[in-house]
Amino acid sequence: MRRLRILLKYAHPEVTHKLAHIAMKYLTPTHDLSEPHVETELLGIKFRCPVGVGAGIDKNGDLIRTFQATGAGFHVIGSVLLRRREGNPHPRLYRYPERLAMINAMGLPSKGVKYVLQNINKINIKTNLIVNIAGFDIGEFVSLCKIFDKVDKVKVIELNISCPQYRGIDLHEPDLLEKLLTMVREVTSKPLLVKIRPRNIDIRKIVHICESFKNVGLTISNSFPVKASFLSSGIGGVSGLPLYKLVCKLIKLVRDISDIDVVACGGVFTSRQVIELMKMFKVSLVQVVTAIAYEGPFAIMRIVRDLESQYQ
Ligand SMILES: Cc1cc2nc3c(=O)[nH]c(=O)nc-3n(C[C@H](O)[C@H](O)[C@H](O)COP(=O)(O)O)c2cc1C
Repeated sequence: MRRLRILLKYAHPEVTHKLAHIAMKYLTPTHDLSEPHVETELLGIKFRCPVGVGAGIDKNGDLIRTFQATGAGFHVIGSVLLRRREGNPHPRLYRYPERLAMINAMGLPSKGVKYVLQNINKINIKTNLIVNIAGFDIGEFVSLCKIFDKVDKVKVIELNISCPQYRGIDLHEPDLLEKLLTMVREVTSKPLLVKIRPRNIDIRKIVHICESFKNVGLTISNSFPVKASFLSSGIGGVSGLPLYKLVCKLIKLVRDISDIDVVACGGVFTSRQVIELMKMFKVSLVQVVTAIAYEGPFAIMRIVRDLESQYQ
């Protein structure tokens, strides 16, 4: 097991990405999902455990069963796009194992919403399913919300307005965000999360707008954009440990003005961080991504196990 972890940490990123996907499909359950563990609540929905998989690991819903077996309290699929999209050419992923960080410029590859719906329909889902959607204009977000509104298994829709690869309109702009939420609310009353970037935003205005709609929370945050000439698109998003302090700082700013529901995402590798985020910053859920990219589903198993032992 230790050798496998070391391999996942240091091998070529695209290779480990594929290997991890294959390995994850064959993982066997370790948790009795009927037992409550560390209960929490987001936008009126109860969660058995606050820790789960964030967007980017299971873009198309191929790994729902695998992560249900890790004890995760929820599972995020996505980003899901309306139509199939290849994403950026390689290289599009770079790892910094010593810093527990990554830079990615995947470019939103997706097998499209039809494929995702087939996966959701064929699986007996025992966890709270969150679908993260992305679009290149407001109309695409609205179309996806209309589709997922009719899918009972989807409990929450997360709007990814913060992909570092977006060009053109910036949905963090208050007027555009208000327009997006107004139009989305015309097609769905499901709980919504707005996933924002960690820098260069007017967080007060964003919070104010989200609070003016019913059942809308924030996911803080996506990776932060940097120039990356070694990646095909020239721009990448930094994720992993360097993001943690930035995320805490931003959530603190939100907490100074509001008790809006917040999902934390960025640089979480340990149960100690989860407890800090829950106790100090009153977050409802914690999403994990880069830790899984390095360790596979073992990351979630380890964090959940440690968390449970501290809550007993
Ligand atoms: C390889 C990779 C792919 C990602 N893809 C998506 C995505 O499709 N949609 C999205 O909203 N965020 C995506 N993210 C961002 C993560 O969901 C998360 O916000 C960010 O990586 C910070 O969390 P972490 O430090 O735990 O990785 C991706 C991140 C990585 C590393």
